[in-house]
Amino acid sequence: MTALDLTGRTAIVTGASRGIGLATARSLAEAGAKVVLTSRSQESAEKAAVEVGHGSVGYGAHAVDEDAAKACIDFTLDTFGSIDVLVNNAGTNPAYGPVVDQDHARFAKTFDVNLWAPVLWTSLAVRAWMGEHGGSVINTASIGGMGFEAGLGVYNASKAALIHVTKQLALELSPSVRVNAVAPGVVRTRLAEALWKEHEQLVADASALGRIGEPEDVASAVAFLASDASAWMTGEIMVIDGGQRLGNAQAFR
Ligand SMILES: NC(=O)c1ccc[n+]([C@@H]2O[C@H](COP(=O)([O-])OP(=O)(O)OC[C@H]3O[C@@H](n4cnc5c(N)ncnc54)[C@H](OP(=O)(O)O)[C@@H]3O)[C@@H](O)[C@H]2O)c1
Repeated sequence: MTALDLTGRTAIVTGASRGIGLATARSLAEAGAKVVLTSRSQESAEKAAVEVGHGSVGYGAHAVDEDAAKACIDFTLDTFGSIDVLVNNAGTNPAYGPVVDQDHARFAKTFDVNLWAPVLWTSLAVRAWMGEHGGSVINTASIGGMGFEAGLGVYNASKAALIHVTKQLALELSPSVRVNAVAPGVVRTRLAEALWKEHEQLVADASALGRIGEPEDVASAVAFLASDASAWMTGEIMVIDGGQRLGNAQAFR
């Protein structure tokens, strides 16, 4: 058994019907965890759980719906007996374009799903289990939360705030609950299609490792943060971007 082993642990992954969440659920399950996968749709959550296997279960819960979140936490405890890992992964971006062109509805939806939901689920998991027994919380932030890009201002602001809140929660919940985040670059998923679909080669060529990310690239980092292999890490933001922030040095070789 290695420190990466998650046998006997239970994990909830929000937004796990596809993309980074689905790959993360698979990584955690392969490491031995029992996993509850959420999605806005019960059907999609169940389908994803069947795909992941290893005794994982799907649960329909809009990440911002407090009653659904509570019900999912209760369901997880009733079914598996613990909540050792929480991955706040559900995310959205309905607010493309300049910040000054956004309306309140798009702004509020972005911040509700990307910032409030991680706070809500963390607080419920801490009250129900982790506060007494410990645990590991991993938030899916973004390298967008560390910089500035035309068109992604509101989304990036929500991820910058999530980075801040990750550190704040790490402080407040220490020493029993660790709270970290991953900050992916451009990854091949539906949410990010506008960032790579029509110009994947351009994005790949602009990064040190010469390709865009795959959901599995992020999932393995989340599994590390979930496990005892990262036991002395809290309040950290792990960038996984294939060197997108470094750029490409090929032209100088
Ligand atoms: N892809 C990238 O380049 C990239 C980069 C940095 C950060 N991220 C972050 O990575 C996370 C996952 O995104 P992704 O790229 O994997 O996108 P994706 O493939 O579109 O997956 C998004 C997932 O979130 C679920 N979801 C959306 N809104 C939800 C809500 N209100 N409640 C519950 N579940 C919800 C979706 O399920 P249903 O539609 O079935 O509800 C889906 O499973 C997000 O937080 C995103 O901001 C992505």
